[in-house]
Amino acid sequence: MEAVTDLPFRTICEELGASLTFTEFLSAEALTRGAAKAVGRMWPSLGGRRFAVQIFGREPEALARAAGMAVDVGASIVDINMGCPAKKVTAGACGSALMREPTLAAALVAAVRRAVPAAIPVTVKHRAGWDECTLNAAEFARSLVDAGAAMITVHGRTRAQGFSGAARMEPIAAVRAELPREILVVGNGDVKDATAYLRMKNETGCDAVMIGRGAMGNPWIFRTLAALETGQPDPGPPTLAERRVVWRRHAALVLEHSPDKMRLHELRKTLAWYSRGLYGGSGFRQRSFSTADPAALHEMGEAFFAELEAFEVAGTRLVTVPADPIAKALARRNRREGDRSEADETCVAVS
Ligand SMILES: Cc1cc2nc3c(=O)[nH]c(=O)nc-3n(C[C@H](O)[C@H](O)[C@H](O)COP(=O)(O)O)c2cc1C
Repeated sequence: MEAVTDLPFRTICEELGASLTFTEFLSAEALTRGAAKAVGRMWPSLGGRRFAVQIFGREPEALARAAGMAVDVGASIVDINMGCPAKKVTAGACGSALMREPTLAAALVAAVRRAVPAAIPVTVKHRAGWDECTLNAAEFARSLVDAGAAMITVHGRTRAQGFSGAARMEPIAAVRAELPREILVVGNGDVKDATAYLRMKNETGCDAVMIGRGAMGNPWIFRTLAALETGQPDPGPPTLAERRVVWRRHAALVLEHSPDKMRLHELRKTLAWYSRGLYGGSGFRQRSFSTADPAALHEMGEAFFAELEAFEVAGTRLVTVPADPIAKALARRNRREGDRSEADETCVAVS
């Protein structure tokens, strides 16, 4: 995901059980021109773990060269994006716009297939179709596989839907039914918990599930699903101590790997994610904008978690509950005490 699946975030997801991570989509044109920003984002996973580099474009030659660059940095898979709905991408007839040009899309796959060693799978991610009138996922996927694609990921929305409405299961099921068994089909869209994961698998027959937004701030979703797949009990949501440990790890990865210019922003993002749903989180997030110094911000994060842990040591358990009478009572109390920042918290500390 653009501006999300950087090395620190992917590492956290991998360490919590994600079996494969993808870089954000990278413009083949930018990569081949040597644009430092794009080239710098082809971060290989740590510890030699396999990873996919996702590229996009519409020029076979550029895609082929970009794919070669991905292989050179150690990518185990080259994935081509044919699903992005963003205007900045479809205006150039790239991303999901390629679903309207199946012949060119297949030619792109063939060009990339020729450019990379046979051991490197070339894969594609696309949508259910361009709009309601062109729900062509199954035939589109078939032509990509005929051109050499080894795995297809389907996001069950059309380009016209963008990210609104619900992802549909039928287009993913249709792609699974259309393709030979040895071609893996990955279902994608709206999977944020084990129930949605099981529904996606059961209703579509897909071989794997790709998780995007559901992992942002909740990388523990991968350990839950890994437990499910291996017949282990669900470890459940993270304890406060686990949150703190993972935040620390994520922050350390940001401090070590993020480019200087991005460090403060990325660190703030980790704090926003891991403080979500915690008592005092919303006020803390506001305070996190009070410093522009990464070291000071890191200390604020440490202090935030330390304070909450002190609560727990005193026998208070932190739980996430929907806005309910307890939350409302707490919000009322906070308002009385003049702390308006907590009024909207849906998460409270209860003994
Ligand atoms: C901020 C953001 C950035 C995204 N960037 C990409 C991308 O670079 N490549 C891609 O294939 N999909 C990208 N997507 C789409 C997601 O991968 C995924 O298909 C979509 O969000 C639906 O799945 P989800 O409900 O699990 O998030 C992005 C989505 C979001 C919200």
